[in-house]
Amino acid sequence: MAKPQIQYVCQSCGAVYAKWAGKCEDCGEWNSVVEEKSSAAFSKVSNISGKKGVREIEITGLDKPTDLTSYAPTGIKELDRVLGGGLVSGSGVLIGGDPGIGKSTLLLQLAAAIASKGEACLYITGEESVEQIKMRATRLGLGKSPIAIAAATSVKDILHTMKKGSSPRAVIIDSIQTMYLDSVESAPGTVSQVRSSAYELINFAKQSGAAMLLVGHVTKDGQIAGPKVLEHMVDTVLYFEGERGHQFRILRSVKNRFGPANEIGVFEMTEKGLTEVENPSALFISESHGNVSGSSIFAGIEGTRPLLVEIQALVAPSFLATPRRAVVGWDINRLAMIIAVLGTRAGAQIYDKEVYLNVAGGLRVTEPAADLAVAASIMSSLGNIPLPGQTVIFGEIGLSGEVRKVAHADVRLKEAEKLGFSRAIVPMGTKPKYKTNNGFILTEINHINRLKECLV
Ligand code: TYD
Ligand code: MG
Repeated sequence: MAKPQIQYVCQSCGAVYAKWAGKCEDCGEWNSVVEEKSSAAFSKVSNISGKKGVREIEITGLDKPTDLTSYAPTGIKELDRVLGGGLVSGSGVLIGGDPGIGKSTLLLQLAAAIASKGEACLYITGEESVEQIKMRATRLGLGKSPIAIAAATSVKDILHTMKKGSSPRAVIIDSIQTMYLDSVESAPGTVSQVRSSAYELINFAKQSGAAMLLVGHVTKDGQIAGPKVLEHMVDTVLYFEGERGHQFRILRSVKNRFGPANEIGVFEMTEKGLTEVENPSALFISESHGNVSGSSIFAGIEGTRPLLVEIQALVAPSFLATPRRAVVGWDINRLAMIIAVLGTRAGAQIYDKEVYLNVAGGLRVTEPAADLAVAASIMSSLGNIPLPGQTVIFGEIGLSGEVRKVAHADVRLKEAEKLGFSRAIVPMGTKPKYKTNNGFILTEINHINRLKECLV
């Protein structure tokens, strides 16, 4: 047997070095390069599943039927929406999220939903004991559910067991960072272990037709820990997000080979686990909106779904040389840009003030279409003048202060009307292609210096 070689692998991006380095040249991360003993670990791993030597590959036609049954709905509608219709057999799904956000809870509920349809689902935990899972299931009211559970961390043992029995409909691995292959000589959680374990598990899924759901830990900056290749290996990457203090949880698809990416599912964490929220629009608006300065309602789109969200701003005098800026649920760099544009193009003196921005309800907004709502909230707080009541707002702001049109204006306006809003501040040239309600006022603006006129 060849002597295991020592190599140095970046735990953040998976780059391999011959020598240790304090900083990864590939991804720029510090202190992420770790010694790993793995002489061609990956090729050794590949030999476990197949026979040594050469095999003929199977060639088929694109028009020939295959045994992939597509989109079996799981029974949890919000999850099905994010998956693009349901679980695809033979697919790999990676679910990331902060610790304690509810990944294990969601997957246990998923396992119960599948099991309740009479299909086999295997839940393998590497983090908790079987008793702990049982306790959680009882708390969720699923104590009597016929879910097959096991506590294991050896991928070889798991595969051996699964190959012996009849193949389950879905396999849940909680989490991929706790799994290991004894043929790879590094600790569980390292890049080579995570990569090789995932490779073997996904390979099993492809061969058996089971859907493989892998839980992935996230690093402190919110990425799924381990190499990016993990995200390339699977068909679907989902992130479970939300503010710990809020009860709402958003499941977001960032990659999906079987459906639209960026789709969201909304859940509420209750004492009895996660419940689905089918009409989330009204959730992210606080009760007391209207007639308070610094608050505006943004008509947003998440995936294919319209969502009204309240954006709150507070502009306060600062006694610091560098005034404080803080955001929850939005990009701080984008906030800096809006403050600069408002200062330069609309004469709003904000540079010497503290600015706090908060997206209500724990949602994270990434759309540039929220620019105008953010600007409106800031202007409103700065002048202590509320925006007119029952008003939604959307539009993108350019560096010259122009307000640009955004996509899906009709969907945004329809949702606003549905929820009883009677006014919208929109970019110039936004013409609804449907007939709006009588009395619905559309205020079109082409530049942010017109924003002041919109405040009451
Ligand atoms: P968990 O699914 O263990 O999170 P993860 O696997 O992502 O680390 O969720 C744990 C949190 O969820 C914990 O803080 C308690 C809360 N929770 C509830 O509020 N209600 C419930 O019914 C359950 C099971 C958990
Ligand atoms: Mg967990």
